[in-house]
Amino acid sequence: MPRGLNLDIDGWLRRIGLTQYAEMFRANDIDGELLRRMTNDDLKDVGVVSFGHRKKLLEAIAELGSAPAAPPAALAMPTLIPTVVAPPPTSASVDAVGSVQRLMSPRMTMPIDRPEIIARPGRETLDPDDWSEALAISRAILDDAVAYLRDVRDRPVWKEMPPEVRASFDAPLPRKPEQLAEVYREVAETVMAYPMGNVHPRFWAWYMGSSNFTGAIGDFLAAIQGSNLGGGSHAAALMDRQVVDWLKTMVGFPHSASGTLVSGGSMANIVGLAVARNVKAGVDVRELGVAAIEKSLCFYGSDQIHSCHRKAMEALGLGNQALRRIPIDRALRMDVEALRAAIAKDRADGLAPCCVIATAGSVNTGAIDDLPALAALASEEDLWLHIDGCIGALIAIAPRNAYRVAGIEKADSLALDPHKWLHAPFEAGCALVRDASAHRATFAVTPEYLQSAPRGLASGEWLHEWGLQTSRGFRALKIWMALKEHGVEKFGRLIDQDIDHAHRLSALIEAEPDLELVAPTNINIVCFRYRPSGLDSAAIKELNTEIMLRMQEEGLAAVSDTTVQGRHCLRAAINNYRTRGEDLELLVRETLRLGRAIVTHGAAGRETGFQDQY
Ligand SMILES: Cc1ncc(COP(=O)(O)O)c(C=O)c1O
Repeated sequence: MPRGLNLDIDGWLRRIGLTQYAEMFRANDIDGELLRRMTNDDLKDVGVVSFGHRKKLLEAIAELGSAPAAPPAALAMPTLIPTVVAPPPTSASVDAVGSVQRLMSPRMTMPIDRPEIIARPGRETLDPDDWSEALAISRAILDDAVAYLRDVRDRPVWKEMPPEVRASFDAPLPRKPEQLAEVYREVAETVMAYPMGNVHPRFWAWYMGSSNFTGAIGDFLAAIQGSNLGGGSHAAALMDRQVVDWLKTMVGFPHSASGTLVSGGSMANIVGLAVARNVKAGVDVRELGVAAIEKSLCFYGSDQIHSCHRKAMEALGLGNQALRRIPIDRALRMDVEALRAAIAKDRADGLAPCCVIATAGSVNTGAIDDLPALAALASEEDLWLHIDGCIGALIAIAPRNAYRVAGIEKADSLALDPHKWLHAPFEAGCALVRDASAHRATFAVTPEYLQSAPRGLASGEWLHEWGLQTSRGFRALKIWMALKEHGVEKFGRLIDQDIDHAHRLSALIEAEPDLELVAPTNINIVCFRYRPSGLDSAAIKELNTEIMLRMQEEGLAAVSDTTVQGRHCLRAAINNYRTRGEDLELLVRETLRLGRAIVTHGAAGRETGFQDQY
């Protein structure tokens, strides 16, 4: 690195890959000497909005070494403020460098209570004062966003927030404006730096998707267009329909079926179960309420059913007890004979069996109920068949594993989750209903202010008639763009890849005498534990909980825990297209290392992990 004071700034910027700042540095008269003295705040002040770029610049400045002392006047911040304000942009395509210069225009640093910039009555707006400046900031944010995902593997999966960061979220309601660049700086430092971690290759906790870059762009564009998907005649509404149609195709539902995009699986299940209730109630539940139902309705799911179904029963006015938990068989699937017996008993007791809720991919272990057998039984008993396919429905597109969910197309209603195995950025769920008229009859209301019109904006379909929401976000775009870019076949192969990873992890676990699988690995969920000899079940639970917590705290990997048939275990749900084979090897290695360290040294015996090295 050159050490002389007369640094060739252009060459130096070229070497560190940040030539876009050359013009800006020139406009601010930044020479080699001044550069060596620049701080993070100085860089911000001259308009380096990107956190990542400031970091890179500061590292490169540190490598230059410091300049000899200069008269204080040369260091005063005003020297960094451009003396020449860039001419106003001639078009919206003004380049980022010009835009960043304008960030420092004197107008931007005026106190906000100057009378001439107080909004004139009737003219106040949320639009930027200067679009070219907004463009520069947006470009910098995009630069950071790309780097954020590109480098995600090099960061800890998760890290604890320092107290000052936590405290920042107690800040009071902002009453005065702040520059967007400053707002973004705060977001970068307090939010982006402390994620949940589910975009990381070694995140396997609970059951998440990993989001995706194109989907994120879709969310951005959806917000830019800002359309309300309550309905109407506009392109977003047609795309909403189209994505629902594509999802029907993926799971083999007929085109005549209906569907709606919702926030996630929990809401999708509520939609399906509400239709089931109304169809089977024998009275007009919408008009008369559940109190008018003659015989109590019974719903049946396995004892592995997701907790959202309990919430659904409660919210639908049926109560938790209406949900019968049927025991599971050796493969952790609903026991079909036990279900048959429960239905018979409820009928004999004068109750009204209403709906079988099959699970295609249980949250604990990924077990898939015997869908063809449950479809046959539901049809025999004249019950509604709802399938909770939040985890597993999309296996239908996976070439090597689709057979596992054969029969899913027989459901009367189906819940699925594009924010899981299509990796749509949260939130995106979908409810499909075979009988479109029953679906619409459950939710449609046409108030006087939402009448259809023969032409114009209100001539399109009212999408709010298929669910509980009136205003709806443009969820379809993020799903549509990623499907268009990658094609559904790739998403299918990625599902196969996750399932392969889970089976490989299971094999690695089985090869280690101190590890054991706690449930058979069916699809992409692996339940396992560290189990050295001589410990009782309470001690094993404590030990495994501590392994899980340390693994998270050290930023190595994120798994969660659960209890399967009375046995506590760690649980890795591999729904992550960034995961590689070596990540699974690391999980096994680190589980053993942490387990042994805890057994040997107790809770105090912490070793240095990834987090400390980072
Ligand atoms: C089987 C099952 N059903 C329903 C849900 C709820 O889905 P969401 O979190 O999208 O509301 C989940 C979530 O993981 C699930 O695994």
